[in-house]
Amino acid sequence: MKVTQLLMVDHEQVMAMLNAFANGDLEPSGVASFWKIKDALELHSEIEKTIFYPALESFAETSSLIEQSYGESQELTDLLAEMSPAESMWDDQVSKLRDLVTKHADKEERELFPRAESLLGEKELVRMGEEAQKLKSEQPRTGSSTRTRGQAG
Ligand SMILES: [Fe+2]
Repeated sequence: MKVTQLLMVDHEQVMAMLNAFANGDLEPSGVASFWKIKDALELHSEIEKTIFYPALESFAETSSLIEQSYGESQELTDLLAEMSPAESMWDDQVSKLRDLVTKHADKEERELFPRAESLLGEKELVRMGEEAQKLKSEQPRTGSSTRTRGQAG
């Protein structure tokens, strides 16, 4: 699978989780799904920052997009680190997270991925997809089972 396809599948899965999450009440299962979303987003960002973005930052066609992507990725990381279901800001944070992820996915799929496809070519994208898959399997996310919940900060 090409890395662009893999990342697109990630986007779809995270958006589906986020939509389901935002439509539900904040019940215990809802909190558990937040940790799942957080894990998925962190792994997605890691793949982008270690495998995908570095391959594109030196091309004139993508360098400024990639620069923005790093910034947005940092914004997402900061928001995820701040988020806690116990906070009064929670609802705002959830909608902010949805906005960020929606914009991220939209921009990458419309602007970055098509350029990546033509700049890197199928073979390289497949190789990067394999690398991404390896990262996913090397770092199985244990999700909520190992997390300390209910603690702020
Ligand atoms: Fe992405």
